[in-house]
Amino acid sequence: MSLAGHRIVLIGGSSGIGLATAKAAVARGASVVVAGRSAERLESACHEIGARVEIHSLDATQEASVEAFFTSVGAHDHVAVLVPTVPDAEARKSVRGFADTPQQTMEIVIRHKFWRPVYCARHARRHLRPGGSIVFITGQAHRKSLPNYPLVAAADAAVEALARELAREFAPLRVNVVAPGLIETPLIRALPTGHRDALEALVGPPASAAHGYGRGDRGRDPVDHGQRLRDGNRARSGWRV
Ligand SMILES: NC(=O)c1ccc[n+]([C@@H]2O[C@H](COP(=O)([O-])OP(=O)(O)OC[C@H]3O[C@@H](n4cnc5c(N)ncnc54)[C@H](OP(=O)(O)O)[C@@H]3O)[C@@H](O)[C@H]2O)c1
Repeated sequence: MSLAGHRIVLIGGSSGIGLATAKAAVARGASVVVAGRSAERLESACHEIGARVEIHSLDATQEASVEAFFTSVGAHDHVAVLVPTVPDAEARKSVRGFADTPQQTMEIVIRHKFWRPVYCARHARRHLRPGGSIVFITGQAHRKSLPNYPLVAAADAAVEALARELAREFAPLRVNVVAPGLIETPLIRALPTGHRDALEALVGPPASAAHGYGRGDRGRDPVDHGQRLRDGNRARSGWRV
């Protein structure tokens, strides 16, 4: 599908999934506005994307900054919010099981994962052109019961519930959610010791996946968990689910 003439805003587009999305959009003819906190990462993303790219410095945790950002960006067709659940590697270390996660970290998770999409939806809406869309990102925590992620699971579920309601209220604008599996990005590479291993432990070997296809069920065995974690994107787009 050609995206020629579309202007796409990617909040968290200077790294990982957002950067890959920006490159794919430009390859299809769109122009992109990439926002993030680090000027260095933005410059590097701008260089990698190569054409039809603007960069903006933004800390999306501040609602006033989000509002000023959208006012400065002006009219656009689509916005994607791809900012991580916690602000930095230090905060990520305290994301644990329910009993071991400090209240402060729980509040950080909810504030980052839930409130940022709220700010973006609120302030992007009036700048979106007819036919436009808002896309949030969640993950697999609320579907898979992953160790260490009860609050992330709760926040992801809340974002999906919000998106359903906004889709109704904002129509004919579209509001949607992408829920990826495990994707190799700087975020995943920086996970604290133990977290990544716990996620990897859920990834099943190819032979067991073949077994899962053969049965065609949606059971709770490690095969099903692993395959959908690894291939979450394809599964969501109709490959298996
Ligand atoms: N990778 C996975 O396996 C996976 C799976 C499921 C869901 N997700 C979700 O996908 C999204 C992107 O993840 P990723 O793996 O691509 O992460 P990433 O490579 O770390 O990219 C995160 C992007 O968000 C920006 N960012 C961080 N804090 C920000 C803030 N306060 N305001 C504005 N921008 C901010 C970062 O730039 P600066 O740091 O310079 O601000 C960067 O551009 C996240 O919401 C993540 O939870 C990832």
